[in-house]
Amino acid sequence: MPDDLPTSDELHTQVQHRLIEELETTESLHRDLLDSIPEVVMRCDEEGRIAYLNPAWESLLGFPRAESIGSVLTDYIAEKDRARWIGFPEAGSPDQTSHIRFKRQDGSVRWFLAGLRRSPDGNCFGLLQDINEQVELAQQLRQAQKMEAIGRLAGGVAHDFNNLLTVIIGGAETALQSAPDSDPGLQDDLKLVIEAGERASKLTRELLAFGRRQVMQFQVVRLRDLIEEIKSILQHMAGEHIVIELEDRCAVGEVSVDPDKMQQVITNLVVNARDAMDGHGRILFSLSDLELGNEGGPLELSAGSHVVLSVSDHGKGIEDGDLEKIFEPFFTTKEEGKGTGLGLATCHGIVSQNRGAMDVTSTLGVGTTFRVYLPAV
Ligand SMILES: Nc1ncnc2c1ncn2[C@@H]1O[C@H](COP(=O)(O)OP(=O)(O)O)[C@@H](O)[C@H]1O
Ligand SMILES: [Mg+2]
Repeated sequence: MPDDLPTSDELHTQVQHRLIEELETTESLHRDLLDSIPEVVMRCDEEGRIAYLNPAWESLLGFPRAESIGSVLTDYIAEKDRARWIGFPEAGSPDQTSHIRFKRQDGSVRWFLAGLRRSPDGNCFGLLQDINEQVELAQQLRQAQKMEAIGRLAGGVAHDFNNLLTVIIGGAETALQSAPDSDPGLQDDLKLVIEAGERASKLTRELLAFGRRQVMQFQVVRLRDLIEEIKSILQHMAGEHIVIELEDRCAVGEVSVDPDKMQQVITNLVVNARDAMDGHGRILFSLSDLELGNEGGPLELSAGSHVVLSVSDHGKGIEDGDLEKIFEPFFTTKEEGKGTGLGLATCHGIVSQNRGAMDVTSTLGVGTTFRVYLPAV
């Protein structure tokens, strides 16, 4: 036997080295894969404690991986979705998927599609795919369609209704003219008819505005001037225990809007803020510029320069569940006779017709901010 041939011991070591090398290569391939995919990959133990997370966890949720490992997965599920979370399936059961919101480190929540599986040894594997954008777009679309449909219905009804009211008021006015002076009771009744008719007519005008059927008279203005113009009216409506302030970043651009309608929007927002603060506190107007790139911005805004008007109060705030209904016509939390639920629907209609958009953020017990976005000219 030539002595340059390896002994069996040496052969054994060589094979071992090769195997280790191959193992290391596949392992690093898997690690690279796990490190680079945009979905969260996780492994949990039988009790649901996190044992492994890939880096996507940190980039999507913001929590450092080292901190999250060892904690219970359910702690990261948004409070409002915990009741729906049924956990990992039993071993041998088919994979399970669910739409669920996870908390992020900054306190916000994001929608994920969670794919879950349990292996026979009890280990649980999960894949979380970020579907936040799709869910939000779908919600916005549904909301826009609903508003559109209600708007058309309300607009159509209001239009016909207004024609009838014109006849009613006109008839009552003619009758009042020919009512004998000797019959003051009849005169009073007719005046009442006219008054009620006019009030109904005002309501239908609001409905028409919401149904986007109003004629707009556009002018190039600065929102600051529109606010200044009606400041004393606003102050009068807000009452003496409310301070109205205007914070103005001086560069704020001009917009092309119907000034009267935009003042109607501002008035509505102030009245709502007053009601939310029970007549005591501070309402802050703030104006700023917003430049949007090609990807567009919040809501359905297109690229370009915008002016943002925000109206903030520190009133009672809006419940989470109410937020999505807030711009719907007839949605009101005020007692009967106090609210019509048409204020914000009208604002929304007017702002849309002025090629803008509105949104709202609110924290219960802390306050609310409504924002109006308008394209700058
Ligand atoms: N600034 C605000 N703070 C808290 N809740 C608000 C605010 N603005 C509006 N809301 C809520 O939105 C609802 C709808 O407002 P709106 O359309 O103006 O109708 P209305 O004022 O007649 O109720 C209100 O009933 C209220 O619950
Ligand atoms: Mg209102």
